[in-house]
Order: sequence, then structure tokens, then C-alpha cells
Amino acid sequence: METLKGMERTNNCGELRKIDEGKEVQLAGWVSRRRDHGGLIFVDMRDRSGIVQVVFDEAAMGADAFDKAETLRNEFVIGIRGKVRARSIETVNPKMATGEIEIVTSELRILNKAKTPPFYIQDGVDVDENVRLRYRYLDLRRPEMQQNIMLRHRVTKIMRDYLDENGFLEIETPMLCRSTPEGARDFLVPSRLNAGQFYALPQSPQIFKQLLMVSGFEKYFQIVRCFRDEDLRADRQPEFTQLDIETSFLNQDDIITLMEGLIKNIFESTLDVKISTPFKRMSWQEAMDRFGTDKPDLRFGMELKDISEYVKGSNFKVFTSVLENGGQIKVINVEGYANIPRKELDGLVEYVKTYGAKGLAWIQYTSEGIKSPFKKFYSEETFEQIKKATGAETGDLLLVVGDKPSVVAQALGELRLEMARRRNLIDANKLCFLWVVDFPMFEYVEEDKRYKAMHHPFTSPREEDVEFLLTAPEKVKANAYDIVLNGVEVGGGSLRIYQSDLQEKVFEAIGLTKEEAHAKFGFLMDAFEYGTPPHGGIAFGLDRLVMLMAQRKSIRDVIAFPKTQSAIDPMSHAPSEVDEKQLRELHIKVKVPAK
Ligand code: AMO
Ligand code: AMP
Repeated sequence: METLKGMERTNNCGELRKIDEGKEVQLAGWVSRRRDHGGLIFVDMRDRSGIVQVVFDEAAMGADAFDKAETLRNEFVIGIRGKVRARSIETVNPKMATGEIEIVTSELRILNKAKTPPFYIQDGVDVDENVRLRYRYLDLRRPEMQQNIMLRHRVTKIMRDYLDENGFLEIETPMLCRSTPEGARDFLVPSRLNAGQFYALPQSPQIFKQLLMVSGFEKYFQIVRCFRDEDLRADRQPEFTQLDIETSFLNQDDIITLMEGLIKNIFESTLDVKISTPFKRMSWQEAMDRFGTDKPDLRFGMELKDISEYVKGSNFKVFTSVLENGGQIKVINVEGYANIPRKELDGLVEYVKTYGAKGLAWIQYTSEGIKSPFKKFYSEETFEQIKKATGAETGDLLLVVGDKPSVVAQALGELRLEMARRRNLIDANKLCFLWVVDFPMFEYVEEDKRYKAMHHPFTSPREEDVEFLLTAPEKVKANAYDIVLNGVEVGGGSLRIYQSDLQEKVFEAIGLTKEEAHAKFGFLMDAFEYGTPPHGGIAFGLDRLVMLMAQRKSIRDVIAFPKTQSAIDPMSHAPSEVDEKQLRELHIKVKVPAK
């Protein structure tokens, strides 16, 4: 068993350069790749800092030492002593930071051997994600994954520094909480000491941070794990991390300005970019009208346009019945794509159906004339009017959806993104920040036949809308704001209610009786009776932010140990069954439904 004793590291692999020529160095790391040229072995040696080429030369180091070098395999852990040598011009590797030099080894120590890993430890491997997650410790050894995790560290460091400089205090809040209604499904933890009772893991520290404002801390933040039992997607995990913030005595503009400063700081100190503030702002209604979503990607155009007024009152039943039922007919313009293959059009019809649309129509403004499934129902003039109104030109393709506004928004909003991807309209290096403001206070939940808070029930309604809380809740706008980057919601927050009577009214509007509200949130309402400052805050999704900064498609790539789409950890095999004894102690009987 060999050790590094007497051969402790003098340098990191990735930091050596031409000016180090002639230096005696001692390095430690992994064998990333080896090439055996008979009598001469080249090894790419890797540590956290990068890769350097190490040379074992039989003539120089002697047969015994060279025999040892011949036993090296990928991922062996080694220590070497050697001399930095400049590479000859022909052998310089401009793709490597250390590509101008190599280390001529005089001594090799094998600190540990390695089995052949299930995939190559290198960037851009094409491996099933389940395999990567099963061997996550190896996946994380790949340089690009190390970069992601290092970036995440830098980002949280800058967050802490910036907030500290601006007078914020980092305060921890409980992980074992009371289950409260609203929001996503809770993860529950049974209490051994209190038979039949459960803690919930926090979906966010929302109530606690508000209580900290009641306590007079004025500026709070926490980088905190949140737990939500939701259906997972590329940008959703059952446990994820928020940068959670709350402030007292600030208005919405104050908070937004502080947060823009934070974002600017984070991006400019870690990426080679310039961020200009203030960010754009758009009302929720405008975002829905123009982009069909409350998190528009502004890196490209292709906005939704309403053509209802041009197609109404015709014999085309599809459109007339939509319009008679309070619906609308909207289009997006896919520029220069009038000659889309018929097969692709058929595919798009199926695509919009997955988003609830009943169908899709189109107008192709080709140089041979107009092609459209509803051509025979309208005059040439109508098609010209639509062309003008939508800014289309000959050669363009309009994709048309008619339905109730929420369906049109979703179907065309998603189609807009899909067509932008297919037509390569998205500049991956662009950063388009946007504040979406003036959210509706409530959304109507069809299946429960009641209103639900769109953000959360502690969000304050706009002062001028308070009178409609119980009479016309759909009219009420909230003092809520989301920050969107490139079509991803990276944060959201609001000004809060700080008077118990208003809070009671909002609970009533979402169908919680006074008694229910007190049973669930009594402690918060009680606290509000003891001198509560006006307050408000925001939470950023740290994982999503770092994902976008690292230009990754999934937040799993910036989380060291994430879960799969089905909320499983293929490495540790969580979740798992537990001992009968553990269950007894927790007073729990398990009843698994038959498959
Ligand atoms: P919200 O629920 O909008 O607000 O969450 C804030 C941000 O957290 C991120 N996020 C997620 N990231 C990964 N996986 C998830 N499952 C997930 N869910 C949310 C998003 C989102 O914008 N307490 C309020 C904030 C406040 O009002 O101050 C809250 O939690 O980026
Ligand atoms: P149908 O009457 O269902 O055969 O539809 C006739 C044509 O209308 C179809 O070929 C589609 O192009 C179009 N269409 C049907 N439903 C919609 C819709 N909801 N929005 C836009 N176009 C539609």
C-alpha cells in the first residue's frame, strides 16, 4: 500500500503553465486516460483543478519503475514526482489549459486501484441518466459536473456576501413543521412521541420568515431546502433549494431593485457577461396575451396575435362556434416556413392536442398563393387583412388555434416554444430577464369549485381591489411579482398581508371558514395582533438559476445527489421499505394498494 508520505502535493494538475518549465513538482490525482507507445506511456492526470499530461519514459526512469507505470488503468489514484517540460511545437495541445507543457515523471506511487468504471469519466458522455445517477460519485468526477457544482458554490457565496453587505441576517427555520393547507402536497414525517401525529417538511419557510418580521429582524435570508410532493419535471425536484428573502418597511420597487442588484452581482462575477438593470416589467395579462404564458421567453419574437375580428361571422363552423362561446382565434407567425412539409403540419396538430387544443389550422402564404384548410370559407381580402394585421409576409406560415382563452394561451404558447426550437431561433447566449407583475390574486379551481390563492394566501391584494375580495375575486390583482429568465420562473414573491382582519378576509375568499383558518394558521393571525410591520419578500429557485447559468437543460445537473423523475435515488435506493419494528414505534400500519 503506497502513500503520499514524503511526496506531498506541491501543485494542482490544472494550474501548470509554460512559465513553470524546469520546476520539480509533486502531483496527486486520477488517471484520466493513458496511451502506451511501448517504452513511452502518456497519462492524462486529473484532479479538481484540471488535467495535465504526464510522461513515463522507460529510458529515463528505469525498467522497474516503468513496469509499474504499465499497470496503470483509468481512474487509478496516483502520486507522481516529476519535472515540467515544455512540449515541442508540434505536440502543443491548444485545447488544454496545460497544453503547452507536460510532466516527465521520475517517481510514481499507486495510491489506489480502480475497477473499470461503467462509463468514461469525461465531458459529454452519452450515458443513460439512470446509470449516471446510480454511479453519481463517478458522474460527479466528470469535469463538467465539477464545474457545475463549483459554480453553485460561487453563486451561494456571492448571495451571502451581497445580502450581508445589504444588512440581511441569515436565520434558520425548522425542517419539522406543521402541515398547512394550500400549495403542493406535503412530505410527512410521523412523530414517535406523539402517536398518530405528523410533522410536514417545509414547502418553503414562508410563515416563519413572516414571523421573523413580526420579531423585528427586518431583513432575513436563508439558503434553504424546500420539499414539495409534486409531479417532477426537468426543472422540478421533490427537494430543491431556495434563496429565501423577507424584508420589512420596503415597497415593491425597493425589493425589486435590491434583487436586480443581487442578480447583476451573481452573473457578472461568475460569467463573462454584462447585465443591464432595471429589468423589463410586464403585467401578467400582457404576458398571457402576447406569449400565452406567465413566464415568457423573450429571446425571440413569434408573439401571439388575435385574428378573431377577421374570421368572425363566416360559414366556417369551427371558428364561429368558438367565438360564439366566448373563445378567441389566435395565431403565431413562423417566418419563412410557408413550405413546411405536410407531415410536419400533421405532427403539429397532435402536438397542440397534448396541450388541450381540439385542433390546429394554418395559413401558408406561399409564392404560389395561399394554402389553408379554411381557404374556401373566406375571401382573398380576408387573408390579406390577416396578413397585414399579423405582419406576415409571403413565405410565412401562420399557425392558428381557436378555443377558450386559457387553452389558446397554453397550446400556442407551447407551440411558439416548440417552433422556436425547431427553427433554431433561440440564442443560447442571450440572457433575457423579466419581472412579471400584477398577478391575479386568485385562480378558479374547476374541480373544487372554488378560488385558490395564485401565489399563496399571505400575498396582499392591491389596495384598490380589496373591496372586490368577496364580491368579485376574479377582479382582484395581487402585489406579487415573478422573475423570469429565458422562459424559466427563477423566483417569485410578494408584499404580504400584515393585518389580521384582511388576512381573515382572504382566507374567507378561498373558502376557509374563520374556524378553519384559525385551526390551521391561528399562530400567524395571533402574531399579527402584536404589532406587525408591513413586509414582503421573494424566493429564488437556486437550482434553476444555476442550471440556466451553466446552460444545462435539467436542474439535476447542478444538484450533487438529485432524484429521478419518479422521485427515486438509484444509488442509495431511497425511498425504501423499513423494519416492522420502526413502523411499530411510529404507530404506523402500511397498506400498499394491489398493483
Ligand atoms: P414559489 O413557490 O414561487 O414561492 O417558489 C420560489 C421559487 O422556487 C423554485 N421552485 C422550484 N425549484 C425546483 N423544484 C421545485 N419543485 C420548485 N418549486 C419552486 C422556483 C420558484 O420561483 N414562499 C414563496 C416565496 C415568497 O413569496 O417569498 C415561494 O415558495 O424557481
Ligand atoms: P374539423 O371540422 O374538426 O374537421 O376541422 C376542420 C379544420 O379546422 C381542421 O382541419 C383544422 O385545420 C381546423 N381546426 C379544427 N379545430 C380547430 C381549433 N380548435 N383551432 C384551430 N383550427 C381548428
